[in-house]
Amino acid sequence: MRWWHNLAAVGALLAALAAAAALTVAGLRSTTSDSKRGHPSPRRPPLRFGPGGSFKVALFADLHYGENAWTDWGPAQDAGSDRVMAAVLDAEKPGPVCSPACSPPRSALLVLLILVCRCCCCVHFHEPCRIPELIFWHIPSTAYVKVAPKAKSEIRKPCVGSINKEDVAPQAAEWGMMDALAKRPSVKAIFVGHNHGLDWCCPYEKMWLCFARHTGCGGYGNWPRGASIIQITENPFSTVSWIRMENGTKHSDVTLSS
Ligand SMILES: *[C@@H]1O[C@H](CO)[C@@H](O)[C@H](O)[C@H]1NC(C)=O
Repeated sequence: MRWWHNLAAVGALLAALAAAAALTVAGLRSTTSDSKRGHPSPRRPPLRFGPGGSFKVALFADLHYGENAWTDWGPAQDAGSDRVMAAVLDAEKPGPVCSPACSPPRSALLVLLILVCRCCCCVHFHEPCRIPELIFWHIPSTAYVKVAPKAKSEIRKPCVGSINKEDVAPQAAEWGMMDALAKRPSVKAIFVGHNHGLDWCCPYEKMWLCFARHTGCGGYGNWPRGASIIQITENPFSTVSWIRMENGTKHSDVTLSS
């Protein structure tokens, strides 16, 4: 069975990369003189909690860049997505930002490796992790359908969120991925994108299933844009999440683990 668990771990990572179009990290501290001078270091230093003892991740979901590049509409949507991200970053005031200019796939991988695999869970996926884990993937699993508030109805406790405008569009096949995650008590939350009209978190087994708030201006839907923010605090340890809108409003606070 071991090959299967390893496959599941790889799947989690690939899914994670698909979900996180861009990540920003606050409180990222490096010990190399290179990065102090603002140059990327060839050997990337480990990510650490900053002096404030917290570490912030902004999820920019479903950016839909590059659509209809031959029209006026496409580039205008891309400029809109840039504005949404800039507004969120201004409001959240994170530390270093990984933008397309600094190769997001590698930066994203680094962050996700820290979050998902810090204690070698990728190698030993069948063992629970000693630290809380967060999973990022793009298309919701069928478990989201089970916990979803009825589409277009009010979002009621224990779920938290502000828009519930459509049905969950889950992936048809997931090869036991959710079962593998549900058996890991270290998994505290899963974040997905894909459905632009949903931004809720609902409990499932011992974890939270969350939709990251839609950020991109391309694609379908005209719901106000924003981004889900995750803040991990070192001492006492806690992982909390909220949504920051383009206009600066903050809502939908959830404690993912404490
Ligand atoms: C910000 O946008 C939200 C919609 O997401 C709206 O409900 C709220 O009233 C707006 N707030 C301000 C201050 O414009």
